[in-house]
Amino acid sequence: MIRSLTTEQLVIVTGKGGAGKTSLAAALAVLSARQGLRTILVTFDTEDTVHPAFGVRLRYKPTEVYERLAVSRVDAFEAVREYVRRKMPIASLYEGFFKGRTFRDFAAATPGFEELMCLGKLYDLATSSQFDRVVFDAPSSGHVKILLGVPDATLNVVQVGPLNHNARKIQHLLWDGERTRILVAALPEEMAVTEALDLTDYCRDERRMAVGPLILNQVVPKRFSSAEIKRLTEMDAPSPALRAAIRAAQSEHQLATVQQQVRQAVAHWPDVLEVPRLLADGGSDGDGSQTLIDAMVEPLSVLFGGST
Ligand SMILES: Nc1ncnc2c1ncn2[C@@H]1O[C@H](COP(=O)(O)OP(=O)(O)O)[C@@H](O)[C@H]1O
Ligand SMILES: [Mg+2]
Repeated sequence: MIRSLTTEQLVIVTGKGGAGKTSLAAALAVLSARQGLRTILVTFDTEDTVHPAFGVRLRYKPTEVYERLAVSRVDAFEAVREYVRRKMPIASLYEGFFKGRTFRDFAAATPGFEELMCLGKLYDLATSSQFDRVVFDAPSSGHVKILLGVPDATLNVVQVGPLNHNARKIQHLLWDGERTRILVAALPEEMAVTEALDLTDYCRDERRMAVGPLILNQVVPKRFSSAEIKRLTEMDAPSPALRAAIRAAQSEHQLATVQQQVRQAVAHWPDVLEVPRLLADGGSDGDGSQTLIDAMVEPLSVLFGGST
């Protein structure tokens, strides 16, 4: 049974690099906006990169891309700057501090500080009256583990004061299964799925978060029976084009066969959501990615009660 996203204010999408986080997060954000939620898609980036699907530059300040859908990026430097601006009455005095090396040295010497500030920004967006939901295109597996462990680690060493207060409120948001959900994506490959299951356990058991479903991305369906493939292989194809088509069918069949073993291995899981391999990437102009996002909306709509 796949539990739909309903009240979640923060949806975190993670997984290994290349698993499809950016594409899936974008499609989930589009679906949320279509359901009427004022949604912001946030990526974890230190520079103003261009979003591959929406073609807009990702800035710290939210940019609206569609009705009810904004995008932005979060980084520690900007998050701390905003924090200080809000807390300090004469913030202009601190500009020099941020411009100099002192800040970077300080941040580098304080483990978890940058992560805590980024989580704080996500918290602010998730609880602001401007948005109903944050979809976070999170860092990949290793870094996200560190990120999610930071509130706990902070509370262990800082018992009072603003850092303690920040860590505590973030932790409450992350722990609250009604408000936060983490989705792990993986390609249907043995190693990738093992790693995804490990991350799922970590989030559920050590971070006490609501996790799932596991998103198996780029699933290639099995189109041919073994007998059909055998017949194709034995066929004396008259043209180069036909021979190429046969080779393509054979390699797809091979991939589908390997994937099927992985899919069967996780089939007993209560919540696995398969997203098929969709149209090929359209290149760097962003159009292909937009088409991919549109195509992803359909398989992902079960997460929204299938009502889109
Ligand atoms: N279901 C899919 N079908 C086809 N191509 C996909 C699919 N999911 C992702 N891709 C492609 O795979 C590549 C990696 O996806 P991306 O979303 O950037 O992953 P990540 O953010 O996890 O690194 C991109 O080129 C993307 O267009
Ligand atoms: Mg990405």
